[in-house]
Amino acid sequence: MLLLPLTLLALQATLCHGACVEVDSDTEAVASKGFKLGCISCKKRGEVPSVAVVNWLFKGSDEVDYSPLLSSFCFMFQLYTYENKQGEVLDPRFYERLDWNGSKQTLDLQDGSIYILNVTYNDTGTYMCTFERTLMYYNYEFQINTTKLIHLNVVPKRKN
Ligand SMILES: *[C@@H]1O[C@H](CO)[C@@H](O)[C@H](O)[C@H]1NC(C)=O
Ligand SMILES: *[C@@H]1O[C@H](CO)[C@@H](O)[C@H](O)[C@H]1NC(C)=O
Ligand SMILES: *[C@@H]1O[C@H](CO)[C@@H](O)[C@H](O)[C@H]1NC(C)=O
Ligand SMILES: *[C@@H]1O[C@H](CO)[C@@H](O)[C@H](O)[C@H]1NC(C)=O
Repeated sequence: MLLLPLTLLALQATLCHGACVEVDSDTEAVASKGFKLGCISCKKRGEVPSVAVVNWLFKGSDEVDYSPLLSSFCFMFQLYTYENKQGEVLDPRFYERLDWNGSKQTLDLQDGSIYILNVTYNDTGTYMCTFERTLMYYNYEFQINTTKLIHLNVVPKRKN
């Protein structure tokens, strides 16, 4: 009898006070439209100030793994990096086509989402988003890395 109300209270607190919720990204984009690649990593200890760097990697669906011995992540390309309130597109295939959609005006990032402006079929593939978060305790720092994978599929525009 005690557990249920507490659970509901926690859920309500989350939904009603803009707390961080780790929603999974959509995985289907429409060709030549914009698409938000979502990546959220909530702080488990919200009261501890922290600084985060977000990195995105990409591997197109037509790019093969060159060695069966290494993890396929070894063959992902640096796509985008966001640090110190500044983003940089690292993959020429995405120059002028990516915008930051994550946390704004803060170094304490919890939302690392990016936005593809004009999706092409070549954007089909695997995206990996990593948060490198440094928690700043009073007398020490602690680093936690979290990683999320998104398999993106691009579909044609619906004809009306
Ligand atoms: C995401 O980026 C797009 C393109 O710059 C912009 O139009 C949109 O408002 C952004 N959304 C958020 C939530 O930042
Ligand atoms: C999106 O890309 C397509 C194919 O490269 C191009 O024809 C179209 O003009 C672009 N649209 C915008 C809004 O940039
Ligand atoms: C998609 O990739 C192919 C092969 O690399 C390239 O020839 C083509 O120009 C690319 N298309 C777009 C819209 O970027
Ligand atoms: C987090 O990632 C960075 C960069 O790859 C690495 O230097 C660091 O050792 C990682 N920290 C942990 C706790 O895994």
